[in-house]
Amino acid sequence: MGEYHIIGGGRLSGEVRVSGSKNAVLPMFAAMMLNGSESILHNCPLIQDTFTSIEILKHLGCTVTLDGNTVTVDSQGAYAWHLPEGFTRKMRSSILFMGGLIGRFRKADISLPGGCKLGIRPIDLHIKTLSAMGCSIQENGMLICRADHLKGTRIHLSFPSVGATENIMLAAVLADGETVLLNAAREPEIVDLARFLKAMGADIHGAGSDTIVIRGVKKLHSVEYRAMPDRIVAGTYLAAAAITAGEATLTDVCPLDLVPVISKFAEMGCHINETADKISLKAPPRLQFISKLETQPHPGFPTDLQAPFVAALSVAEGASVVEENVFNSRSGHIPELTRMKADIMVMQDGRNFVIRGTEKLRGAAVEATDLRCGAALIIAGLAAEGETIVTEGHHVERGYEDIVRDLRELGANIRHYS
Ligand code: UD1
Repeated sequence: MGEYHIIGGGRLSGEVRVSGSKNAVLPMFAAMMLNGSESILHNCPLIQDTFTSIEILKHLGCTVTLDGNTVTVDSQGAYAWHLPEGFTRKMRSSILFMGGLIGRFRKADISLPGGCKLGIRPIDLHIKTLSAMGCSIQENGMLICRADHLKGTRIHLSFPSVGATENIMLAAVLADGETVLLNAAREPEIVDLARFLKAMGADIHGAGSDTIVIRGVKKLHSVEYRAMPDRIVAGTYLAAAAITAGEATLTDVCPLDLVPVISKFAEMGCHINETADKISLKAPPRLQFISKLETQPHPGFPTDLQAPFVAALSVAEGASVVEENVFNSRSGHIPELTRMKADIMVMQDGRNFVIRGTEKLRGAAVEATDLRCGAALIIAGLAAEGETIVTEGHHVERGYEDIVRDLRELGANIRHYS
């Protein structure tokens, strides 16, 4: 299922362009069901999850064309509201089609979603909130959703779930009346989705804050939009430069979206320079420890960069503590990094990791257990003595357009074998 072979030890240096954001485009694909007309999306990353989304849209009856990084979808002739397991097991964000289909057809039959295995990943918030909008949802291996009268209401999320926030936005833009969403997720990808929906004619205010107000409109229209850059890909490549005591300039990024990440690189002794759409990082000869790194919903440190940072901290001077607060089991990278001679202890709660920096990692055969675990192991391989082989590489392809191309731009010795 694909392997990455990395010969470590070299110092990365150079410039690389960052692709469009996976987590921004995935809800946009679901949103394309809503307008019943043409949507043109530029800067779309050519990743497995994009290809899966395209397959889903075609299955639902849309016409889809892909030209470079531009996807054009015509949902006028869409006729289906049924998403079988074959699609939904491949990626968790297929659950977002629930909002898209309910908004469009007032009904959706969706198999329970799959995606990265990061512990229990319930969808109770999606179900509870859409039910509050007048949707009846029955579960029997599938979610059978019916909403003859979809109406806006006041919703308080008990946790600012990114996916639940997006599903509510998708359902609410064509619902009757006003939806007020409290304790909404504030991730930059939520802001990008709101911009995309507004460009289609939706009435949305407050995205990026914890209160989003959506007034339902009767109809949406065609749209042309450019997706935001991928802040997680950017953070991964900066971590790759940092772990090799190297330097990198990333173009086509949004530094403002990376503020919580940049501040941690600074704590590790890296020098950072930013302009409006570029970031340069220069690492010290040896990274410094971070006394405490806690993942939190935005604007906290993103959970998707926890694993790449654990990899980088495993060669830092001193002991660091990392606490995972978003997912209850996001530690698949730790036993694999330990095989590479990283010194990491997982505390009893499974959420706190103590990392004692070692001077050198050693290349080993390791397994990517999920997308960001795979990225972390590749990064670790760049700093390890000898060869690292990362198996189950298909996970990485779900989120990185071409990590080999990009890291080679920075001088890495990495190959992909399918
Ligand atoms: C999105 C991102 C993912 C990122 C995550 C957190 C996409 C496609 N994926 O995932 O890369 O790691 O945000 O920033 O955008 N939860 C519940 N009940 C629910 C929904 C969520 O308990 O109904 C819990 C989850 O189990 C998890 C936490 O809330 O512990 C965060 O999940 P959520 O914000 O929903 O993440 P996703 O939308 O799945």
